[in-house]
Amino acid sequence: MKPERPRPMLRGKRVGLLFYETSTRTRASFEVAAKSLGAITTLIQSAGSSIEKGESLIDTGATLRAIGMDILVVRHPNSGAPHLLARHLGIPIINAGDGMHEHPSQALLDAYTILRHKKKIAGLQVAIIGDIFHSRVARSNIHLLSKLGAKMTLCGPPELLPELATTLAPGLTLVRHLEDAVRGADVVMLLRVQKERLDGLRVHIYDYVTRYQMTPARLKLAKRDAILMHPGPAIRGLELEGDLADSPQSVIREEVKNGVPVRMAILARAGGKTR
Ligand code: CP
Repeated sequence: MKPERPRPMLRGKRVGLLFYETSTRTRASFEVAAKSLGAITTLIQSAGSSIEKGESLIDTGATLRAIGMDILVVRHPNSGAPHLLARHLGIPIINAGDGMHEHPSQALLDAYTILRHKKKIAGLQVAIIGDIFHSRVARSNIHLLSKLGAKMTLCGPPELLPELATTLAPGLTLVRHLEDAVRGADVVMLLRVQKERLDGLRVHIYDYVTRYQMTPARLKLAKRDAILMHPGPAIRGLELEGDLADSPQSVIREEVKNGVPVRMAILARAGGKTR
């Protein structure tokens, strides 16, 4: 898939973008992807729609299907919301991030980005650092990259990375010191500190920055050709030292760019087109 060469594989199809949560990258890239395939898109956000009046998720989905949507791309704060819609609506539902559960299209675009740099994923040393507990991006990447043979190390404080995380996939390693995770890594993946989900947890931002912020000196522990990833939005000065996002090792913008062709492929498949 190449966004600069539109393919009318979904001409005449209608794609609904049903977003109950904020988004920049996922929403815009699904929209560009759908339009690059010739589809018509409609954006429905909770603010300004009948969701504010109390309409249920299933009723909202059924309403959009009645209007003529062929595919729904759904982001929702509750884990399992896209699955619930898929069970009730009988049209393709694409998970654009559900609660603390999964963000599969992000993991696919991350895997694609890694492949563009590393040729193969099997055997790569991948370190995921930060708020793994709340992160749907981490969960989807752990499932996908483990399945593809990466050796994965998870790193964070106990409040954001419980021991239970090692049960997410076979062969995961858990460490508490950032240096142990980064040393010798091929891929270093940072996660956003989700301040909106930290209520009630004993996480002090100053301590987090001191122990887990990525700095040029810490990144030097990784392999010389290691790539630095972040699903975004990256909070400069928190997960990473400000300029690191723009360093030669950073592929953060590439991840965003790769979201479009990867989501074109997802939409084409959902629409029943594979060629
Ligand atoms: N990575 C990601 O899901 O970003 P958005 O929340 O901006 O879509």
